[in-house]
Amino acid sequence: MKIISPDNLSCPLDSALLSYENDKCLICENGHSFDVARQGYVNLLPVQDKRSKSPGDTKDMVKARQEFLNLGYYKDIAAYTAHIVREALNEDQKNMILDAGCGEGYYLDYILQELQQDARNGQCGLIGYDISKCAVIEACKRNKADITWLVATNRRPPIVANSLTQIISMFGFPVFDMFAQLLKADGQVLLVEAGNNHLLEIKQHIYSDIKPQTHASKIEAAEKAGFVMGEKRNLSYTATLKHPDDFYHLLKMTPYFYKMYEEDKEALSKSCKSITIDVDFIIFHKA
Ligand SMILES: C[S@@+](CC[C@H](N)C(=O)[O-])C[C@H]1O[C@@H](n2cnc3c(N)ncnc32)[C@H](O)[C@@H]1O
Repeated sequence: MKIISPDNLSCPLDSALLSYENDKCLICENGHSFDVARQGYVNLLPVQDKRSKSPGDTKDMVKARQEFLNLGYYKDIAAYTAHIVREALNEDQKNMILDAGCGEGYYLDYILQELQQDARNGQCGLIGYDISKCAVIEACKRNKADITWLVATNRRPPIVANSLTQIISMFGFPVFDMFAQLLKADGQVLLVEAGNNHLLEIKQHIYSDIKPQTHASKIEAAEKAGFVMGEKRNLSYTATLKHPDDFYHLLKMTPYFYKMYEEDKEALSKSCKSITIDVDFIIFHKA
């Protein structure tokens, strides 16, 4: 697959098409311009769309996720996501793929590497955005040549309507009404969510009663926005931890970290030798 630069970014202020000026900034026909930061991303999140000074994941959360993902325990999740993305590629059209809430870019970078090795004809453009600027700065370090990284929000994505062929939302905060506007008629949304037994070893420690993960509210939101649920797949495996610190890194990137006492975290890090990984992949199409 040939990796191309996306031409479907839109101005967050007036929705006009954005185009690059000397690779230094993106500018719309009404003169709104947005610099390409030295790290390689473009900030398309206007102040009026921010609900706090630094929205999204903090630097600490981003670092914790990056450190854990780099250990490779979630590589199979990345590989399965890339597999589903590749299945939906169309050799006869421009494939425009968005990772909405891309975090520090681990998954989209993995997908890029798979697409670069895909010998089929066809073109792919890759956009990853996140509301957290520090996450996007880290994403740029993974690859800034072939992926367009943006600071942006799911609530008002700076992307031209009907221009995307796939939207991926991984462990994130999808806004399906917006996704429906961005997606082409034959496009798909891939929702990747924690399954029933995901990180069971931690959940068992915190909750006496573990509620099943039905993803009901997200499925309902998708259907309300005009999507039809297609296939639901699952990936489950047990990962053996190579070092007690690895468990601590994992814990640190989850919300459970803030629900546990420090001594419990340390004890569990020492006793827990493996973790259950259980992830659901739900595909939605436009009705
Ligand atoms: C649990 S993390 C998952 C990150 C990444 N998808 C991954 O799996 O590694 C959720 C991400 O959603 C981002 N986020 C939260 N609200 C958002 C919004 N309204 N628009 C875009 N990203 C958002 C956070 O900053 C964070 O990076």
